[in-house]
Amino acid sequence: RQPVDSPLYALLSAASDYYRNALKNHPQRHTAVSYLKDRGVSGVIARDFALGFAPPGWDHLSKHLSGDSMQQKALIDAGLVVENADSKRRYDRFRDRIMFPIHDTRGRIIGFGGRVLGDDKPKYLNSPETAVFHKGQELYGLYEARKYNRQLNEIIVVEGYMDVIALAQQGLRNAVATLGTATSEEHIKRLFRVVPNILFCFDGDNAGRKAAWRALESTLSNLKDGYQARFLFVPDGEDPDSLIRSEGLEAFQARINQHSVALTEYFFTHLAEEINLDSLEGKAHLATLATPLIERIPGANLRALMRQKLTQLTGLTSAPNDNFTPEHSNTTSHDWAPEYN
Ligand code: UTP
Ligand code: MN
Ligand code: MN
Ligand code: MN
Ligand code: MN
Repeated sequence: RQPVDSPLYALLSAASDYYRNALKNHPQRHTAVSYLKDRGVSGVIARDFALGFAPPGWDHLSKHLSGDSMQQKALIDAGLVVENADSKRRYDRFRDRIMFPIHDTRGRIIGFGGRVLGDDKPKYLNSPETAVFHKGQELYGLYEARKYNRQLNEIIVVEGYMDVIALAQQGLRNAVATLGTATSEEHIKRLFRVVPNILFCFDGDNAGRKAAWRALESTLSNLKDGYQARFLFVPDGEDPDSLIRSEGLEAFQARINQHSVALTEYFFTHLAEEINLDSLEGKAHLATLATPLIERIPGANLRALMRQKLTQLTGLTSAPNDNFTPEHSNTTSHDWAPEYN
């Protein structure tokens, strides 16, 4: 999938060393250090996540890693240096930012996220797609979660770098973040290779709620019996970072225990949200929305139970169809013979 021995790995690793060292020693590090302190990040967590600092300036990293012209080219290939298309002028991609190295599951650095210290835009800058970095597949914090937990039973999926860091800071070292992209089926496959339980906890805003439903859709087709996903919806305006910082670990854990909802529950409440289930039209509508999604579930038992639940809600019974083939999971409507009770 990835080049086994790309020269980019060594370069990315050297860049990470530079950023980490800059957070400790660069004369302009103080704003970065106090930024992290203000956000409650301890030295231990900064070390465990190898946080760094890209100093302000156009060529600190390129100068530090300067080599022959091949090396200069490799810096561009690694996404660390940008070359202006017209002027051909080259400059460091990450400047005056807190740096979050992104590891693959083998622990190799494949890219970075960088956060501005103030209110500049973009708030987060990520490495571009490179030969070793594929944003839609990687999960920030997965390497660290495996490294710092002897046994993992559940992984918490959040939106942002700082959510992962804040949860780790409070002792929840099992959080990962998608890198500003929607949760993909590839993400879910990766997670279910590591744990049987996923807890999604996205931001309490419209983007977060959209992200949750999108995550549900990506999860459905990976739900073998024995695997499960839950959702914790946080109050409006909060995200996992702000919430756990304001209410503390115990309250946050109690919230998970008491208020997280099973994927199957979220599934029906969300689909029925704007449907009047007292009317036949509403029941038909729900069945139309739910059936193709239910048929995507590979776990035969869960699929059967979901059909049963739909029957409870609508009165519709479906002819049993257990010749489930994932390839046809989106087009099962022909095989599905609804009957009124
Ligand atoms: P958020 O805006 O929710 O970030 O975006 P956050 O982690 O809560 O930010 P702060 O630091 O607490 O203010 C969630 C994620 O979306 C991606 C990043 O991965 C971020 O962590 N993102 C966001 C970007 O890639 N670029 C952006 O400009 C903003
Ligand atoms: Mn948000
Ligand atoms: Mn956002
Ligand atoms: Mn957020
Ligand atoms: Mn935040």
